[in-house]
Amino acid sequence: MSLHSQGTAALFLLLLSSTIIPAAAQTSKSPTVGGKDFDAAAADQARRYLEEGRETFRFDTFGSEDFWGGKLKLHEAIAGEKLGGKGPGLSPKKALELGLKVDVNAIPKDVAVALGKGDVDLDDPASTLLLLKANAVVGATGFFGADGKTLTSVGIQCAVCHSTVDDAYAPGIGHRLDGWPNRDLNIGAIVALAPDLTAFTEMLQVSEADVKKAVEAWGPGKFDAELNLDGKAFRPDGKTSATLNPPAFGLAGVNNHTWTGAWGTVSYWNAYVGNLEMHGKGTFYDPRLDDAEKYPVAARTKQGHKQDKEDRITAKLPALHFYQLSLPTPQPPEGTFDSAAAEKGKTLFNDKAKCATCHVPPLFTEPGWNLHTGDEIGIDDFQAKRAPDGRYRTAPLRALWNMDKVHKGGFYHDGRFAMLEDVVAHYNDHLNLNLSAEEKGDLIEYLKSL
Ligand code: HEC
Ligand code: HEC
Repeated sequence: MSLHSQGTAALFLLLLSSTIIPAAAQTSKSPTVGGKDFDAAAADQARRYLEEGRETFRFDTFGSEDFWGGKLKLHEAIAGEKLGGKGPGLSPKKALELGLKVDVNAIPKDVAVALGKGDVDLDDPASTLLLLKANAVVGATGFFGADGKTLTSVGIQCAVCHSTVDDAYAPGIGHRLDGWPNRDLNIGAIVALAPDLTAFTEMLQVSEADVKKAVEAWGPGKFDAELNLDGKAFRPDGKTSATLNPPAFGLAGVNNHTWTGAWGTVSYWNAYVGNLEMHGKGTFYDPRLDDAEKYPVAARTKQGHKQDKEDRITAKLPALHFYQLSLPTPQPPEGTFDSAAAEKGKTLFNDKAKCATCHVPPLFTEPGWNLHTGDEIGIDDFQAKRAPDGRYRTAPLRALWNMDKVHKGGFYHDGRFAMLEDVVAHYNDHLNLNLSAEEKGDLIEYLKSL
């Protein structure tokens, strides 16, 4: 027997022996050994991460109240002069108009009954305080003084931009839908209500009037997540640089995140947002932000080297990451699309219309480095150039059938295409597809099935 075949024989013996290990050893208590307990430990962790991540996504302010309340004094604008704050206050009616959502499950019974009878004054900021106290305003937490009545601060959560409600009770009042972007939320108008914008004037080194002009230009469903880095409030065409709030569901398996990608994983972005956008307390490191030419504001304010005394973010990142990847893409309800046409559209998508070269099914983005230049998709590169790689991320196609919430405000990063018809017309021109009117229709039916 040659040395080689001796080795093979030994390997066989080894493999064989593993199949005759006694059952008792296979259920070893040690989690470092394979077997049922190891699997149970993984399942336990998954369950724990799901619950903890959901809690963080919905309710954790990361200490951001020291910014939104402490610095901007937003709580004073919410309470209004009569209740110890400033100005007219924020009534529930106004809050709903600004796109804030109310979690119907959190409304206390007596308030729900009063609401049903029309006994809650929706024009009175005191009613907003009641809802905040009940933790019923999605993505915002009110902090109250010792008297239990005076609003002393307010903090925000991921859910303020990345959750909405199903309107089961009334428009803006219903059950939470985590991961669905809030395309009604006018976060810029909310920031503009703040009595003290010094934190922004100092960071951006511009006047208060300019800060207001910048944030008031965002409009519903949009936020500028790079303004704090490059200070570019407006594009060369004079429009706001803000982008649409993207859906945070259906992201498992997707490599690059955000509209432009190349920042990092979902977890990178979670740390980025928790620290630099929500202004929570934590630690953030990214030396790419030291590039004073590309990111003058971030370089000057050392945002790539944030190290607060207290860290309320880092320990929550694993579960938060896991929760987001668990959020499923909502499926089209029966009757939303014509299935015979969609079947024909699927063939076009994968073949003649060339969509699947980038939107690779079933991820509908590329496995791998899923980024493209503005030229490749036939648009300007202003937003792409604000990101590390100068490209746009192949948007994973999700819930395209849903125009009243998920895709309200249009398609592409800035909503430049109002309808799927506009998106398809754009590709037809740009990629010289020569699609007939019928083919365009079939393709759209397929897109609505995703
Ligand atoms: C003020 C609104 C706002 C808040 C608060 C916010 N986000 Fe976002 N989020 C956005 C916007 C806008 C983008 C797109 C940014 C871009 O492309 O430059 C985004 C992008 C994302 C993405 C990338 C999605 C994709 O398609 O790849 C994830 C994931 C995400 N946010 C998670 C979170 C988490 C987790 C939190 C809380 C820690 C959070 N966000 C808080 C507005 C917000
Ligand atoms: C060269 C790669 C490429 C090809 C080919 C391509 N896309 Fe895209 N697609 C992208 C990128 C990149 C984006 C993101 C654009 C942005 O963020 O502004 C996108 C965005 C979209 C969106 C908007 C998604 C959203 O959430 O707003 C739709 C819809 C879409 N593409 C459909 C199609 C269809 C249909 C085809 C075929 C006719 C196609 N794409 C071909 C790369 C591509």
